[in-house]
Amino acid sequence: MIGSARPRARVIAIDGPAASGKGTLAARIADHLGFAHLDTGSLYRAVGLIVLRNGDSATDRPAAITAARSLCPERAPAVLRDSEIRSDRVGQAASTVAAIPEVRAALLGFQREFAADPPGAAAGAVLDGRDVGTVICPDADAKLFVTASVEVRAQRRLKELQARGVNAIDSHVLADMKDRDRRDSERATAPLVKAADAFVLDTSDMTADQAFEAALGFIRSRIGPDAA
Ligand code: DC
Repeated sequence: MIGSARPRARVIAIDGPAASGKGTLAARIADHLGFAHLDTGSLYRAVGLIVLRNGDSATDRPAAITAARSLCPERAPAVLRDSEIRSDRVGQAASTVAAIPEVRAALLGFQREFAADPPGAAAGAVLDGRDVGTVICPDADAKLFVTASVEVRAQRRLKELQARGVNAIDSHVLADMKDRDRRDSERATAPLVKAADAFVLDTSDMTADQAFEAALGFIRSRIGPDAA
């Protein structure tokens, strides 16, 4: 019926490197705006976990592609809710499988569908990842690129690991972080790059509250104070 169609969903794209704080920020913004939130990294992590659980290597392309194609989000696979997807081992595997074009292609439709038609009839969606503003939703209403120095991000990751009772060594965490940055930024398909029209938020010297206020200020300037 004309006139009763749901208004176009608002889309907020938040990209940035590992441990930049983008996930926490995205969840908080989605909560504040009443929008749905998709952590797109969890999809790549789920693929990494499936591959490792099958006893395959993350560098095994056919195994990774099969795993990505098996990840049918409509069936809400338990693997997306598995706490093991948060481990560093799975994070490294995710970063490896994410470089495979067919893996990215298999996960593209779900992400675009989520943005266009957010679950729970939400008025908008916040997606966080590496290529949301550049590839998944290039027409997003607001794009943010959240970053912090690699040393600050390694320190944050170290604290997170220690809080989980994991015995981690400073220098190893920093080396892993640099490794992951390199893989995410240098891959040929959909590398981590700032979209030309993204607002850069360097959180190195910011508290979580300051980052939230700055992000919200930018989003308001893009989608209007009534919507935000
Ligand atoms: O954000 P994260 O650390 O949970 O992401 C895990 C890995 O997944 C990351 O190293 C790169 C990959 N990733 C990606 O390539 N594209 C995305 N949109 C999100 C994550």
